[in-house]
Amino acid sequence: TLGFFSPGELNRRYVGIWFSASMDAVVWVANRDSPLNDTAGVLEIDGAGRLFLLDGSGLTVWSSNTTTGGSGTPSSAAAQLLESGNLVVVRDDDESNGAVLWQSFDHPSNTLIAGMRLGRNPQTGAEWSLRSWRSPDNPATGDCRRAMNTRGLPDCVSWRGDAKKYRTGPWNGLWFSGVPEMASYSDMFTNQVVVRPDEVAYVFNATAAAPFSRLVLSEAGVIQRLAWDGGSRVWNVFAQAPRDVCDDYAKCSAFGLCNVNTAATLFCGCVQGYVPVSPAHWSMREAAAGCRRSTPLDCRDGGATTDGFAVVSGVKLPDTDNATVDVGATLEACRARCLATCSCVAFAAADIRGGGGGSGCVIWAGDIVDVRYVDKGQDLYVRLAKSELAAANKKRGSMLKILLPVTACLLVLMCSIFLVWICKFRGRISECSIATVETGITRQSRFYGAHQTN
Ligand SMILES: *[C@@H]1O[C@H](CO)[C@@H](O)[C@H](O)[C@H]1NC(C)=O
Ligand SMILES: *[C@@H]1O[C@H](CO)[C@@H](O)[C@H](O)[C@H]1NC(C)=O
Repeated sequence: TLGFFSPGELNRRYVGIWFSASMDAVVWVANRDSPLNDTAGVLEIDGAGRLFLLDGSGLTVWSSNTTTGGSGTPSSAAAQLLESGNLVVVRDDDESNGAVLWQSFDHPSNTLIAGMRLGRNPQTGAEWSLRSWRSPDNPATGDCRRAMNTRGLPDCVSWRGDAKKYRTGPWNGLWFSGVPEMASYSDMFTNQVVVRPDEVAYVFNATAAAPFSRLVLSEAGVIQRLAWDGGSRVWNVFAQAPRDVCDDYAKCSAFGLCNVNTAATLFCGCVQGYVPVSPAHWSMREAAAGCRRSTPLDCRDGGATTDGFAVVSGVKLPDTDNATVDVGATLEACRARCLATCSCVAFAAADIRGGGGGSGCVIWAGDIVDVRYVDKGQDLYVRLAKSELAAANKKRGSMLKILLPVTACLLVLMCSIFLVWICKFRGRISECSIATVETGITRQSRFYGAHQTN
């Protein structure tokens, strides 16, 4: 439904679009920053396809910034609210009839619904992003923003003012690296990242059988995916982000690794081969200084190096803001490229669709930040000095030295128990088979009998 509405106080009125089944679920607001002050208001369209919202005295409080698509100014235009919830203005004259001049889907408020996109046009700089409301009953532009970051690999980032608050992790071909649960509802909502010269965007679509759904950025910067349960008439929360402490952007600082299962160390550790820059602060649970490499690399640009890689498995990949991405490279080429560059600290596959180790190449040169363990996470290859890797192997080796004898002892013990049990069991069987032999002979009893003679 497109109409006038008043959230909270009745003296502020807005033009918006909401789900007809649920009036409170406003998905778009036209005049969010310039409400009407009374009940007099008119939404108009002119011949050129511009929408105007006029107040009681005929003054324009809001207008659509319609661009004249195609050839010249149209002589006639029409506005239509589509079934998808998109308000479109199309040309209604002989020339390029039906061409879209303006659409509300291009100007999101705080909500993304099926068919809308979050992203940007790298050629024009135009952006489709979400801006939170100021409060639950005030749709004015709030502090939080959610936009697609197109530097490095595409990922979606929530901001509060100028501060990054949460990052989905880079798109890995199937889902955003830090949001593996996206795969669990792909039967209802298909997720896609489009990368074209004129568009880098995240688009979600609903399958025919899917319930109504919306992705809403709250006043607090929390993004929720809600789905409508028509039976009980409630919006259910399907997914939410940030989910936990480790989702706080760069929680463990540079080269830190966040683990929600280690509450004792306030969730922060360093990636393998790294130690806290300031152990004193770290022990006070202040992770801001981050971690540093404990052994320097053996770095000879372009030449041979003895360095190797530690695999940090099951993680949301670090921020790719300043990373170098080559989707065409193989993982093996990526490894070689990283070893050949002194500044390379880590690499990973850009795309995991093919299975195996994945394909494509992301190379980090500066700090790596915002790494956390996550279900179905990816492998991150961290460059380390040979001695560091040897130490890790030795540790694994000494573990093996302890584990082997223990395992051997256990095996012997279990074998003995089994033998004793077998002996007892056979004893009982012998009695049985004697009884059978006496009453009549079967194959089975003969077999047992034969055994008995052994
Ligand atoms: C209207 O569009 C022009 C060109 O696309 C842009 O420069 C301008 O900032 C827009 N104005 C508003 C109010 O969005
Ligand atoms: C990327 O580089 C810029 C400029 O050096 C820096 O301010 C920013 O923090 C870096 N981003 C990340 C994620 O490291």
